[in-house]
Amino acid sequence: MKTVNIGLLGLGNIGTGTYKALEMNRARIEAVTGLDLRITRILEVDVTRDRGIAVDPAKFTQDPSAIFGDPSISIVIELLGGVEPATSFMVDAMNAGKSVVTANKAALAENYEILTETAAKNGVSLRFEASVGGGIPLIAAITESLAANEFTELQGILNGTTNYILTKMATEGRDYADVLAEAQAKGFAEADPTADVEGHDVANKLSILLSLVFDVRVKPQDIPTTGITDITKGDIAEAASQGCVIKLVANAARTPDGLLYFIQPTWVNLDHPLASVNNEFNALFLKGNAVDDLTMIGKGAGPLPTASAVLGDVITIAKGV
Ligand code: HSE
Repeated sequence: MKTVNIGLLGLGNIGTGTYKALEMNRARIEAVTGLDLRITRILEVDVTRDRGIAVDPAKFTQDPSAIFGDPSISIVIELLGGVEPATSFMVDAMNAGKSVVTANKAALAENYEILTETAAKNGVSLRFEASVGGGIPLIAAITESLAANEFTELQGILNGTTNYILTKMATEGRDYADVLAEAQAKGFAEADPTADVEGHDVANKLSILLSLVFDVRVKPQDIPTTGITDITKGDIAEAASQGCVIKLVANAARTPDGLLYFIQPTWVNLDHPLASVNNEFNALFLKGNAVDDLTMIGKGAGPLPTASAVLGDVITIAKGV
């Protein structure tokens, strides 16, 4: 059995889910991979909150250098969210020779070059499967299994909170604010849910996908984006009367005029694969010149689905440690 020590930055919703999932599936992970994964240090200010998990208080630190300077730690999981200090912490961790796993779409979208170049410079791994599509293994699929394709088109439902809100408004006739509060309680929404409902979270994710799928860097603020705040129950009923549902869709396509990309609430015909993607589920449709049409669907938000992607990245790196 190979022991791999891990430093965790942030024990919020996703951090707690990751800790929980690792304990829940420890026996299976050990049996299948031969890895004994241990979260040995946790950067977290709130050390008293009852999270429903048993954490040795000695693991907590408020000093990031206690993790980056610890030679026994080879992997750092960054789950703080937000651009800073998360970006600086990831850079510091990689400069200290640690590989990094993150779910942080905002930091990646803003600082993609800095982060990927720092990983390359230090010969360490930077993996971010959880940053787009939650538990859907779409980044591994795009960068590995589908790497032989030239892509011409993508469409995605990439935000669980807004898809949850639109679904509940359509199927249960509930009010926007009421459903948003429920999505927050379930741990889907960002700390500031404005990022979800205004589409900024989707812009961060589409920015990452544009790098991976089309090899172009577009800052999230340069992606034309409309969120769902103006969608009313009347709009949803009108779409339904025409055999459609309203979804917040991220689009990108190669056109004769260049690469086109935008995010907007869209009427989706009921016979389209994205129409039946409900609640916190996300989906990504891709058109590749070899694979042709492909749709991946799974839970795009929530502590355990996100933890599934985080731990998958940790295992991939730990196998090579
Ligand atoms: N707030 C995000 C969402 C979390 O609702 O999809 C997952 O990235």
